[in-house]
Amino acid sequence: MNNLMRRAQNVQLWRKYCVKQYTTEAASAALSRGKPNYDEFIAGRQVQAQRSIVVQVSSEKSYSELYNYCSRFGSIVGAHHYCVRHDDDLHYILLEYSTAHEAAAAIDSGATNGDLSGVPVRSPFLWFKAAPGKRGPKLAPNNNNNNNIHHPPTSDLQSVDGTRQLDQEALLSQLRGAESIEQQVQLLHRHTQLNDLGVRMRFLAALQVQQAISGMFPAAQAHPFGSSVNGFGKMGCDLDLILRFDGETGGRKQSSGEPPSRLIYHTKENLSNGRSQTQRHMECFGDMLHLFLPGVCHVRRILQARVPIIKYHHEHLNLEVDLSMSNLSGFYMSELLYMFGEIDSRVRPLTFSIRRWAQACGLTNPSPGRWISNFSLTCLVMYFLQQLRQPILPTIGALVKAAEAKDVRVTEDGINCTFGRDLERVGFQSRNTSSLSELLLQFFEFYSQFDFHNRAISLNEGRQLSKPDHSAMYIVNPLEQLLNVSKNVSLEECERLRIEVRNAAWILESEVENSSLPQSERQEETWGLLNLFKHPEKAIIRPNMFFKPRMVEVSDLFEEKHQQLQSTIGPASTGEA
Ligand code: CTP
Ligand code: MG
Repeated sequence: MNNLMRRAQNVQLWRKYCVKQYTTEAASAALSRGKPNYDEFIAGRQVQAQRSIVVQVSSEKSYSELYNYCSRFGSIVGAHHYCVRHDDDLHYILLEYSTAHEAAAAIDSGATNGDLSGVPVRSPFLWFKAAPGKRGPKLAPNNNNNNNIHHPPTSDLQSVDGTRQLDQEALLSQLRGAESIEQQVQLLHRHTQLNDLGVRMRFLAALQVQQAISGMFPAAQAHPFGSSVNGFGKMGCDLDLILRFDGETGGRKQSSGEPPSRLIYHTKENLSNGRSQTQRHMECFGDMLHLFLPGVCHVRRILQARVPIIKYHHEHLNLEVDLSMSNLSGFYMSELLYMFGEIDSRVRPLTFSIRRWAQACGLTNPSPGRWISNFSLTCLVMYFLQQLRQPILPTIGALVKAAEAKDVRVTEDGINCTFGRDLERVGFQSRNTSSLSELLLQFFEFYSQFDFHNRAISLNEGRQLSKPDHSAMYIVNPLEQLLNVSKNVSLEECERLRIEVRNAAWILESEVENSSLPQSERQEETWGLLNLFKHPEKAIIRPNMFFKPRMVEVSDLFEEKHQQLQSTIGPASTGEA
């Protein structure tokens, strides 16, 4: 009974949170003002998605005609064009109306197309059919004398791709032309971070799922989390989505002074085992998405995982989606990372460079496995920034201490996700003045010497602990402290990380020295950060200057490479001289 009561209480708390989110009109304002807090950011983007539709067109040139047609439903305040590459380029225009009602009117006007098979589904994803009697969309209606025609502010059609990363060559040339490593780090961040359109598209994918099932499940909510919203996402990152049924957003909203309704929805009795029930529900949702939802394809069910997920590809958004129903702590973890990114402007650019370096060395890999994940790597960066003599980030414990009653969040499984959300109240001020290139080098040096063999990392306390088990790498999960975030990492991968951080430290040290030369005197075209991103085959094992090499512990791979190196340059320095 106690368990049931606690569960009910937790559901109430989550509901309160959801209601607060959706009724926060100020959220949109906070979003356009800049510097929104996490709740405002999420709510603002959700409201923005409700005001938007995505229309497939034959080309960018259809914009004038589309604008003219769609203006009958309301006032269009923004338009973004993007392409998805298949055999041919598929063109889409995301239109933003000034209100959700206007977008809903456009969606509701949607007709079924007799030529196409399939069950029509109400969704923000639409197709702009050629006008009757025309072979294709009219290209330039601006010379039309009809006074009812709305002439679009053509300059306002933003043609920024939200689906792909900047062309690699263009990025490399930007980095080559930078003035300093510091600037390279900033440029890499600016050019590879998830852009505005990328965020809009992800919130539309979430809204599509939510709206598709809202008829039957009035309380359903699909919330994006992970790198799509925590500020550490790069262009093309996947969308992590959590589907919940305990909010109050879809159905009739209760105003604050109103007594609770006495008419309660009947429900089906729950299965006794919550996990197998979730798996059954997910299986069913997986089928529904697969069979009915426009754009959804390649649906895969991974239901035996610790957190069961449904993976799918969204072909109108060129987006990979991971849908879960039971990972609320992951949602709050995204909030923690978002706050860390907001606390100091160096945090995100630094993390982007480190994630890029790890990708270039093959330490990370888009598919899950025994290698370090981007999330674990991000935790390593956060911990590094916490443990500096002059910390750049506070411990999570300090955030927990600053919590007020309004910050209380407990998931239905009883996981306490309470921490202070108000950064002013947390009152953390860093006195650390290191530059980004200094921090990058310090990061590599720090993990060159970190004793992964015996020590675990705690972001809650901002210090190392004794390792509680034999995992190769141990990072205490900040919100579920009995779990290890990096449990999947094998000994071999952990060793590879150690080898690569040593290499990186060695390379960067000489790059920092060289970067003081004026640009004209630099010998190499590839310099600074770019040398960290070289392909692993090109990376060589350097004698280490910071510490004694631990030859006994290193993997075969390292020994083999080391022997090759010895035969070409003689014995490595032991660092003792
Ligand atoms: N998460 C967590 N504990 C884990 C793994 C993930 O709390 N052991 C949460 C984190 O909030 C993480 C989110 O789930 O951000 C999504 O996980 P994942 O997709 O693996 O990482 P992302 O941060 O989204 O990074 P990526 O861009 O590689 O997808
Ligand atoms: Mg992700």
